[in-house]
Amino acid sequence: MTLDGKVALVTGGSGDIGSAIARTLAAEGAKVVVTYVGAEEAASATVQAIHDQGGKAAHLQLDQRDPAAIEACIKQVEASHGRLDILVNNAAWNIGIPFPELDKLTVDVWDRVLETNLRAPFLLARAAADLLKADGGGHIVNISSAGGISPGSSSIAYSSSKAGLNHLTRCLAVAMAPEVAVNCVAPGLVEDTRMAKRLPDAVAAGARRQAVLGRVGQAEDIAAQVIVFVTATSITGQIMVVDGGMPGTMR
Ligand SMILES: NC(=O)c1ccc[n+]([C@@H]2O[C@H](COP(=O)([O-])OP(=O)(O)OC[C@H]3O[C@@H](n4cnc5c(N)ncnc54)[C@H](OP(=O)(O)O)[C@@H]3O)[C@@H](O)[C@H]2O)c1
Repeated sequence: MTLDGKVALVTGGSGDIGSAIARTLAAEGAKVVVTYVGAEEAASATVQAIHDQGGKAAHLQLDQRDPAAIEACIKQVEASHGRLDILVNNAAWNIGIPFPELDKLTVDVWDRVLETNLRAPFLLARAAADLLKADGGGHIVNISSAGGISPGSSSIAYSSSKAGLNHLTRCLAVAMAPEVAVNCVAPGLVEDTRMAKRLPDAVAAGARRQAVLGRVGQAEDIAAQVIVFVTATSITGQIMVVDGGMPGTMR
């Protein structure tokens, strides 16, 4: 297996895509730590699924809006596992607010989205930098969104947070080279996920209609791209869109 002996931290492993990423990393031999903020049962289910497939996993509670909790989380990973090779910044928060309804996008919503989706991935990368650089170097994979490339998705705050995460990927790729490769998967609509169900109907229908391959992504497609990035030796600073081929994201 390609990731034997590696330790991976997947934020938001209680969620639909995080669970798929964690299970796929474990299937490749990595020991996986998944985080959740409130959904302990769902995080436990991810861990159990990994144990059932013969892999190694654990779960940790983390509110990644809290900078001190992020530092403590990385320290706990180090204390328990002694190394960290892969950080997948997957956790995010969103709420459906149609773009024209500017007044509904309050300061509180803006801050919650940006703190969770953009500030936390930076703080996690910063806290984990020394561990990721040790033991032969490591990988960060950020999970952003096609909404960070063309203006769309659940809200202006979400779309902006993901545009920021795309650029954070490039900045960290420069900052953390040569020991750490930093890449990003930008999903479009991912079928059968809770987050997709929070999108305005028109946005979801538009994504399905425009996908030139006749299908949008599944969680397993996102996980497969994460494996490509964490097994590559000469790719960094890249954003791979996985959306069934929407012309708007091909620019
Ligand atoms: N689903 C889609 O169609 C789609 C499309 C484009 C991009 N994406 C991106 O893909 C990633 C995963 O999405 P998903 O569909 O799997 O979402 P999801 O099922 O809603 O899961 C979101 C995850 O983020 C965690 N989280 C939320 N707020 C947090 C906080 N303050 N601190 C720590 N963790 C927090 C949640 O923890 P709890 O479960 O404990 O609440 C959960 O594990 C996200 O980055 C999302 O933006 C998804």
